[in-house]
Amino acid sequence: MASVLKSQISVTPLSETIGARMTGVDISKPLDAETVADITQAWLDHIVLVFPDQDLTQEQQLTFAKHFGDTGTRSRRPEQRPEGADYDAGIMLITNVKDDKGKYVGSLPDGEMYFHHDMCYMPKPHKGTMLYSIDLPSTGGNTRFSNMYRAYDLIPAELKKLLEGRTALQVYDYHMTATVDIDGDLTGIHNLSQPIFVRHPQSGRTALYVNRLMTARIDGIPRDESDTILEELYSISEAPENYYEHVWTEGELAMWDNYCSCHARTDFPATERRLLRRCTLLGEEMIPAS
Ligand SMILES: [Fe+2]
Repeated sequence: MASVLKSQISVTPLSETIGARMTGVDISKPLDAETVADITQAWLDHIVLVFPDQDLTQEQQLTFAKHFGDTGTRSRRPEQRPEGADYDAGIMLITNVKDDKGKYVGSLPDGEMYFHHDMCYMPKPHKGTMLYSIDLPSTGGNTRFSNMYRAYDLIPAELKKLLEGRTALQVYDYHMTATVDIDGDLTGIHNLSQPIFVRHPQSGRTALYVNRLMTARIDGIPRDESDTILEELYSISEAPENYYEHVWTEGELAMWDNYCSCHARTDFPATERRLLRRCTLLGEEMIPAS
């Protein structure tokens, strides 16, 4: 059931677990304070917001994002970025499209991608990601959003107690369906330990902060025990009733909260174009739940 906010935006939940569709607002235009406050609150309430039927340039996407915080900037220089100099340093293309020399014009081109929290291997992970759909394949390439507050709440009490105050090693080497072999050499590979249970800086709620793609092991316990526990945690966070699978339509912007959700991509035909434009919101160090 839709509810209508003060700013006249209609909010319709996308599932019982996570996500809401936001209609009645043109996000390419400057937003007034009431609209920003409504979207901010809806984002806290629903974790993932989807704005359909939007027509956004990269500048308009970044202007919209800046209402909710400082936007992230790519560290590589324009000539080193696959998108090239036509794109702002705050933009990344997520695409399998190639240029006339056969080079990808963006990142994360084809195939499935396991559940992950964006940037969880960095000291200050991005708090939010905004992805705008431009070209879509006829099937697949959907995004699954998992509610990590709910996952935390469902962890058995004994396991919660065992994991309280613990950290896990987050590692990323740009693979999409394989966790890094941590028994190998991690030199030059992003890796950082983060709390397993984190407190959301705005809501104050506790969320589970491990994921299949990037979490390599729980610190301070034997590896096989760690593997078993992580599988148990994924069986909760990746259960179908804990995620919503978004089937994209063109001209949609999705914004999600990386502190209390993780996301995955389903496979799609490599012979078809898929092009989405991403920007991010800078975040803070993760706060361990107390
Ligand atoms: Fe991601």
